[in-house]
Parts: sequence; C-alpha cells; structure tokens
Amino acid sequence: MKIAVIGTGYVGLVTGTCLAETGNNVICVDVNEAKVHKMQHGEIPIYEPGLDVLFHRNIAQKRLTFTTDLAAGIKDAQIIFMALPTPPGGDGAADLSYILGAAKDISKLVTDYKVIVNKSTVPVGTADKVQAVFTENTSVEIDVVSNPEFLREGVAVDDFMKPDRVVIGTSSEKAKKLMSELYGPYVRQGNPILFMDERSSELTKYAANSFLATKITFMNEVANLCEIVGADVDAVRRGIGSDERIGKRFLFPGIGYGGSCFPKDVQALAKSADEHKYNFKLLKAVMDVNEKQKTVLVDKLLKYYKGDLKGKHFALWGLAFKPETDDIREAPALYIIDELLKNGATVTTFDPEGMANVKALLGDKIEYAEDQYAALKGADALLIATEWSVFRNPDFEKMEETLTNKVVFDGRNLYDLQKMVDLGYYYNSVGRKLID
Ligand code: UDX
Repeated sequence: MKIAVIGTGYVGLVTGTCLAETGNNVICVDVNEAKVHKMQHGEIPIYEPGLDVLFHRNIAQKRLTFTTDLAAGIKDAQIIFMALPTPPGGDGAADLSYILGAAKDISKLVTDYKVIVNKSTVPVGTADKVQAVFTENTSVEIDVVSNPEFLREGVAVDDFMKPDRVVIGTSSEKAKKLMSELYGPYVRQGNPILFMDERSSELTKYAANSFLATKITFMNEVANLCEIVGADVDAVRRGIGSDERIGKRFLFPGIGYGGSCFPKDVQALAKSADEHKYNFKLLKAVMDVNEKQKTVLVDKLLKYYKGDLKGKHFALWGLAFKPETDDIREAPALYIIDELLKNGATVTTFDPEGMANVKALLGDKIEYAEDQYAALKGADALLIATEWSVFRNPDFEKMEETLTNKVVFDGRNLYDLQKMVDLGYYYNSVGRKLID
C-alpha cells in the first residue's frame, strides 16, 4: 500500500519504518529540512535498538523515503498517518495545534479518498475535530481514524511488528477494510485488531498509560510503606504478582515513572476529565505521589547526612528515564541532580546513551565521566537512577578503588541484599531492608 507519515519524531519514524518493512511504500514528511536531509542520506535521528537495520534496509530498497514537500508526500497515499506532537499546553491539556494545523494543510491538498489516521495521543473528541477541519475545507471524501500507538521506547520495533493488540477507532467500513489490510501482517500470530468507535479508541490510549502509571505508583507507595514497617517489597511484589488478576509486570518500585508518555498522558486525562466536570481523583493522587517519588533518593541522602549535603560529591549512574534509550524527558535523574545542586552538592555522572542530551540541557553544571567507574572518583556515595544492564553486575573490586566510601543509594533495586552485606556496603534501596 502507499502510505504517508506526517511527522518523523519517535512515533512517526518507528511507524514509517516498520510499515515499509512489510512491503508498503512509505513517504515520511517533516517540516525540518536539516533532519529530512540527513534521513535522505541514511542518517537516523534517534537511538532505538533494531530500528537502524530496518531503516537502512528500507531506504536501500526504496520503500522508505523522506520529503519536506507535503503535497508530493500525500499525493498518492491511500493512508496518511499523523504522528505529530501533542505537548501539554499551559493548562496541562494536550495542545492540538500541530495536528489541526496539519489537517488543515492536508485538507487543502487532497484530490481523492484518503484515510487520515491520528497516531498521536489525543484527547477524546479529536477525531471529530480533525473531521470538521476537512469538512470545512474540502468536499473530497476522507475518513478520520484513531489508531493509538502503544510503543515502548527501547523495544518499539518489536512492539510495532508484534503488537499485543491494534486498536482502530472508526465508524467507516471503507476505512476499516483498508486498516485491516494494512495491519494484517502484524497480527498473524493471532493477536487482535480491535475495532471500536473513535472516542473509545482515543480513551483507550489514555486509560492504558494511566493504568500502568497507577500500577507503578501503587507499588512505589507499597515500597515506601515496606521501609516503615520492615517488610520487603520484592517479596510483596512476588506475592501479589503471582495472582494472575494482578500480573507480574509493571510492579517494580523505583524513583517514579518518567518519559515522554506517562507523565503527559496522566496529566492530560485528569485535565480532560476536569473539562468534562468529572474529578478523576485517583489520577491526581498518582501525579502527586510520583512527584514526591522522584526525589526519594535525595530525601534518603538528607537523612543519612543529617540534612547537610553541602560540599558532598556524588556519583550518579543513569540519566535516561529508563534503559536502552537516550531519552531524558521527565527523567527522575534530572530531578535528583536539581535537588543535589540546590543542596550544595556536586555530581559526576555516567549513562551509556543519555549524557549528550543532559549535557545539552545542563552543560557543565555537573561532570560527565567516560565510564561508570571513572564516575566514582572521589565520590562520597553512589546513586543509581537507571537500571542499565551494565550497572547490574559491576566489578565491585574496581569500584572500591575509586569510591571513597562504600555507600550506595539504589533507586532501582539492582543488587542482592546479602551480597551487599558480604561486600561491606551501606546499601539503601527502595522498599527493602536497609543494610548498614
Ligand atoms: C510507555 C508505554 O509502556 C507505552 O505503551 C506507551 O505507548 C508509551 O509510554 P515508555 O514511556 O517507553 O512506554 O516506557 P515504559 O517502559 O512503559 O516505562 C515508563 C516508566 O515507568 C519508566 O520511567 C520506567 O522506569 C517506569 N517503570 C516501569 C517503573 O518504575 N516500574 C515498572 O515496573 C515499570
């Protein structure tokens, strides 16, 4: 099939590349000339495991092309995906100006039937708003479809190629047929394509992310309580996760959820409920708890150093909001750094992928080490903010050579408690027994 993807951010690029991989002809359109130029020359603008191979292969086979020319991009397309940003506006509600702006531009160019797909996460009612833009500007028949993405950074290619489900919101039989044809190759293993109305589809995305954020937040509160009552959150997690109704996944406590989706989507759903005069109290509590959880390690440090971090130097392992990505949006590490600096401490960090982005944001407010051991030099304590695999089984002997004190504050529960006892560490993790 012939597809156009408008917007080559994370979602657009993964979508375009993975759609090309099953034999479709995909043209990706973006307004950023420098970025398009780079992609035309085979340069991939994001780090996502496995995407580069597909990206280069499909460019080489001419199924994946890039342009800044919207008219040329959509001319032959049967389906046009809109993968545009929906940042939180000043009031927390999703800002739809990019989507509605693109819809207007497209509406002035279409000459034959097209399916317009909202891939971005958008509030309930957006498909209707997009449809209204087309109705206002053209008499050409089009159908607007809601098709939310459920891609996790780090495993996005797998999530796209083998989705748990594909959600399609449309009231048009014609659009339904085209979308079934397009997604058929991705659900061969039997996972469902779930057809529903546009509004249910739009809400499904927000509800899924908000539920997961709530699940994590619940466990973070259980972990905090574990520390107070002397229970072990790992045991509790296994105890409840074995119940199939609860499930084992997304029960890992830590230093709060981050990233480009959960914080934004929880906020947008709460806001959207407010706008419809429904007070979604649970989500407000989730946001509140998550804010506090992001600096739980700093609270622990303050307690350990009796309220005084002035002149202390800390090593920080991990900046990205989670492993296998260079994404630092809403990363708990940034909140930790901010608090440490405010308290007069200094920081040296190491992250396998996230350092360039943090450097662009914070410059030399902190120091950047060339590897995880170099980051420990002269540090009063080590803090762990991201569970990268390289941090899971470090060379503890090498660590001792540079770490001034054997003190670790671990926000991701990476190490076995007994092992840390044997190695003689002060080890403070989340929701588990304190080793001192
Ligand atoms: C998420 C959704 O999973 C995906 O379906 C959606 O479409 C986009 O948002 P992503 O933001 O890439 O994906 O990250 P995810 O792996 O879901 O993790 C989100 C956050 O939750 C991270 O900060 C992670 O550290 C945290 N988390 C996750 C926990 O703290 N504990 C867990 O058990 C799981």
